[in-house]
Amino acid sequence: MKRTHHCNELRQADIGKSATLTGWVHARRDHGGVIFIDLRDREGITQVVFNPALNAVVAGQAHALRSEFVVSVSGEVVARLAGTENKNLGTGAVELMVGALMVLNAAETPPFPLDDDAVNEDLRLTYRYLDLRRPRMARNLRARHDAAKAIRDYLDEQRFLEIETPALFKSTPEGAREFLVPSRQNPRKFYALSQSPQQYKQLLMVGGVERYYQIAKCFRDEDLRADRQPEFTQIDLEMSFIEREDIYALIEGLIARVWKNILHHDVPLPLPRVTFREALDTYGIDKPDRRFDLRLVDLSDTFKDSAFKVFRGVIDSGGVVKALNAKGLAIITTGQLEELTELAKAQGAKGLAWIKVEHGQWKSPIVKFFSAAEKAALTERLNIEEGDLILFGADAWLSACEVLGQIRLKAAELLEKAGKLRRREMFDFLWVIDFPLLTYDKETQRYVATHHPFTAPVAEDLPLLDSDPRAVRGQHYDLVLNGTELGGGSIRIHQADVQQKLFTELLKIPADIAESRFGYLIKAFKYGAPPHGGIALGFDRLVAVLTGASSIRDVIAFPKNNKGVDLMSQAPGDVEPRQLRDLYIQTRE
Ligand code: AMO
Ligand code: AMP
Repeated sequence: MKRTHHCNELRQADIGKSATLTGWVHARRDHGGVIFIDLRDREGITQVVFNPALNAVVAGQAHALRSEFVVSVSGEVVARLAGTENKNLGTGAVELMVGALMVLNAAETPPFPLDDDAVNEDLRLTYRYLDLRRPRMARNLRARHDAAKAIRDYLDEQRFLEIETPALFKSTPEGAREFLVPSRQNPRKFYALSQSPQQYKQLLMVGGVERYYQIAKCFRDEDLRADRQPEFTQIDLEMSFIEREDIYALIEGLIARVWKNILHHDVPLPLPRVTFREALDTYGIDKPDRRFDLRLVDLSDTFKDSAFKVFRGVIDSGGVVKALNAKGLAIITTGQLEELTELAKAQGAKGLAWIKVEHGQWKSPIVKFFSAAEKAALTERLNIEEGDLILFGADAWLSACEVLGQIRLKAAELLEKAGKLRRREMFDFLWVIDFPLLTYDKETQRYVATHHPFTAPVAEDLPLLDSDPRAVRGQHYDLVLNGTELGGGSIRIHQADVQQKLFTELLKIPADIAESRFGYLIKAFKYGAPPHGGIALGFDRLVAVLTGASSIRDVIAFPKNNKGVDLMSQAPGDVEPRQLRDLYIQTRE
């Protein structure tokens, strides 16, 4: 009983034909002896009917069928009775009148209903193979496949070669925390799982490949969230003899292709570009969600002679005072306001000054310090009205922006819940450009690469590398969509001496470590490295947006939970003492 059709194939035109379908029992209804089964395969659902008046033996067998039994059924395609058609089903005009049934496998009662989208996620992950049968998950996997195919086709047309690079690499400083893999054959040595193919793809450029891409598995031992997995997939690519504009054009074409093929949506090109400075000034973050406004306003001018010592002091020492008007959020509870303050403090703020406008009054712990002129300026600059909540950040420019950026996102959530804000329904793509090459890390008191240490400085800023490293812009670009970082890349350093200088003089990596970790790369650059650059897009994040999934877990067949555990297989697990001995490893409590 080999299948002749899939479960989303039979139509009115097939009435009178015989057909064999295979699949899972999705639902079963008993109507006075006549049994109706919704038979499901990955393509869809067809109603199959067992009628004792027509075939008593087979109808009798059908009584044994339960949810998720695997069956093969043969019979005649018939029209459904007038009035019983199902418009929501591709096959809704017909049904299969079963003449023969074969049970291919029985199934235990599933631990959760497969037609319910609200099932507890731990349970879904424990029985992922059942979860994947749910139509929503099946659609997500298919969208992932379709997106990968569209991307492969596009990059192939653009003459890219798909090349695999090793997952077993070596540990490199300056990146995310790595997963280490002990080497049995090289006692006490470790591989690191590749965080990204970054160095290999640059070496491919030295190797003359010119255009490389890979749908690459990457591994990072980071704290996990809805948009972060310990192993995830990048659309990773690199090109030689190009400039930033070439990458923008290439990626814009790729995005347009994917959105067209999968969602039939035209992405307006070229994508807008926002500088790092503008993004922080206005939205307090380098991946702004611009589907709502809530802009930050700089009030340093207003408060430069203020009697409020906190603001005045910050401005006198070169910092800024910024504020945002969360329109309508005066309804905030004291508890929620405390949470906002804690959020600000967790970002390093000393406090979160606020003003609530209620019953024509400004309620606030700080307005008593404000002059009439300052109040008038605030009212005008922030367009303050009844019901508003004003939130202030006073600090060095970057810190003040970043704190209010987080407050802005939280305020938007609260306003959304209260029905006072709606995100515009759109795909808000943008490039964020002109990042600083280096960021000062207060904790370790040294510079770290904003993107990664292979990013080239903007040529005209090169003279500043010695005199004012903070002012040097990197040739780095991020692609942002609806407030998430979809991808990032840069034009790379391709001269050995510049790369060396960056490692040792600016990033202060001790010379011996720089030599042992990166020496081979610098050596490679001495043998005729072409100018090159590239980018990597987070493929899981891209598919999550395409499918409307709220977490990348929903677009990965077998994801880990937020603790990095595969609930189905229970990885990571224990190993035998012997295995550890072979690896020269001892574990400690
Ligand atoms: P970057 O580290 O910015 O750049 O990574 C590129 C993109 O990968 C995605 N991403 C993740 N997705 C899911 N889970 C994670 N843990 C995770 N970490 C990153 C993001 C991110 O924008 N080699 C450089 C690229 C280059 O310069 O060409 C790199 O890896 O969407
Ligand atoms: P204080 O005078 O320290 O009691 O602060 C008065 C108000 O200003 C409190 O609501 C603090 O949370 C807030 N505040 C203090 N420092 C800052 C700062 N750097 N930025 C924003 N608000 C602050």
